[in-house]
Amino acid sequence: MAEFVGAVDQGTTSSRFMIFDHSGNEVGRHQLEHEQILPQAGWVEHDPIEIIERTNTCLQQALTKTGLSASDLVALGVTNQRETTVVWNRRTGRPYYNAIVWQDTRTDRIATALERDGKGDVIRRKAGLPPATYFSAGKIQWILENVDGVREAAESGDAVFGNTDTWVIWNLTGGTDGGLHVTDVTNASRTMLMDLETLDWDDELLGFFGIPRRMLPEIKPSSSPTAFGKTRANGPLGGEVAITGDLGDQQAATVGQVCFAPGEAKNTYGTGNFMLLNTGTELVRSQSGLLTTLCYQFEGQPAVYALEGSIAVTGSAVQWLRDQLGIISGASQSESLARQVEDNGGVYFVPAFSGLFAPYWRSDARGAIVGLSRFNTNAHLARATLEAICYQSRDVTEAMATDSGVSLEVLKVDGGVTMNELCMQIQADVLGVSVSRPVVAETTALGAAYAAGLAVGFWKSTDELRENWNEARRWEPQWSAEQRDTGYAKWKKAVERTLDWVD
Ligand code: G3P
Repeated sequence: MAEFVGAVDQGTTSSRFMIFDHSGNEVGRHQLEHEQILPQAGWVEHDPIEIIERTNTCLQQALTKTGLSASDLVALGVTNQRETTVVWNRRTGRPYYNAIVWQDTRTDRIATALERDGKGDVIRRKAGLPPATYFSAGKIQWILENVDGVREAAESGDAVFGNTDTWVIWNLTGGTDGGLHVTDVTNASRTMLMDLETLDWDDELLGFFGIPRRMLPEIKPSSSPTAFGKTRANGPLGGEVAITGDLGDQQAATVGQVCFAPGEAKNTYGTGNFMLLNTGTELVRSQSGLLTTLCYQFEGQPAVYALEGSIAVTGSAVQWLRDQLGIISGASQSESLARQVEDNGGVYFVPAFSGLFAPYWRSDARGAIVGLSRFNTNAHLARATLEAICYQSRDVTEAMATDSGVSLEVLKVDGGVTMNELCMQIQADVLGVSVSRPVVAETTALGAAYAAGLAVGFWKSTDELRENWNEARRWEPQWSAEQRDTGYAKWKKAVERTLDWVD
């Protein structure tokens, strides 16, 4: 009898497959990294074939490790790095170009031109997003304009677009042999092409980027018994399993953290940080630099919206200390190094490697380390890096309080960086609120599993899911109000230094 739900999490640095039981506990997993292709400054790409091959291996290996088979899985959920853009030929299954990753800034001229030509307000009103390099539409336009043959193939219906959820589902359901070309409302809300109210692709927005409508996948709810088809019998699971959940990774984490009521929020610490506040069926338009986005839609129910504060560089700043500067050998060493000093020694690090996202939306910003004196060491820089993660989250909570009137009492956190105890203590100190991490910290995959399991009645209601949530660890603020205010004022000053850097 099928008793488990599987979840594919196709993320920025790795793909994984996880299997959960009815209590939301992990039964098994397999995870594989893929290459980060950096052809020139500001460009970030992935190989879509490598991604699909590694995803397939994860599915196979997780089953092998657990001794389970396709028939033990009641349903499958898919979640993904959002915005990252794949364009491929539906007849051959071959991508026309590498996936252009959400962090890639090559489309900054496209974004600037939209604002200059007065299209920014239309995009903000319809799509809930500011024109920025972050979202998919400019990346599709770039491929249409720069890769030979794609425009003609797109007009004729051969070249199709998908974020990596769509790419994974198309491949799992058959690929060139009848694969489904679908996405869900949350992923579609990150393209700059979907109208937030109609939940359909918008012709005016498509026109801004010159994108033929027939390239785009069909938009479905995030949880549905029929919308996403089944894995093919001769595929990596070796059997048919219904795919019944699909949502962007940050929205999935919001579901995994059971933020089902308006006013509930979570913050995920991964490559970047993403804070989402559930605003219910009400569409709240940000005045403070947050995104208005879809939170989820369960089939047969109205769509639920969220306000989002997206931060491009947090965990990847720690990776930068490791890979580019070589001052630590692994992520966990950022904690031991930072603990060698009492405070940041006056150093502030603004890791604006991809410009600044929320709440600034400045693609002309670039990173800066300020306040250096001869006294400073690697340890101060490590500490300033952890503080940067936390101060960027403070910027976002300030904007959320302004937009929604909701001041958080507790911040629910998840993601890899939350294993860094010092970073989480600094987060509580910088915000002046408690920070709480659940037992199952893999909330992204869990949320995709929840969406899939709800669609087939494995879980009956969101109330049942709430019972699965348990706190593992809580951090309380220790800084004085004065320390908090002084530190934040310095951070804001450091942010000023990064602006207007790119001409
Ligand atoms: O919007 C980008 C986000 O979805 C990426 O998340 O966890 O893959 O870095 P992650």
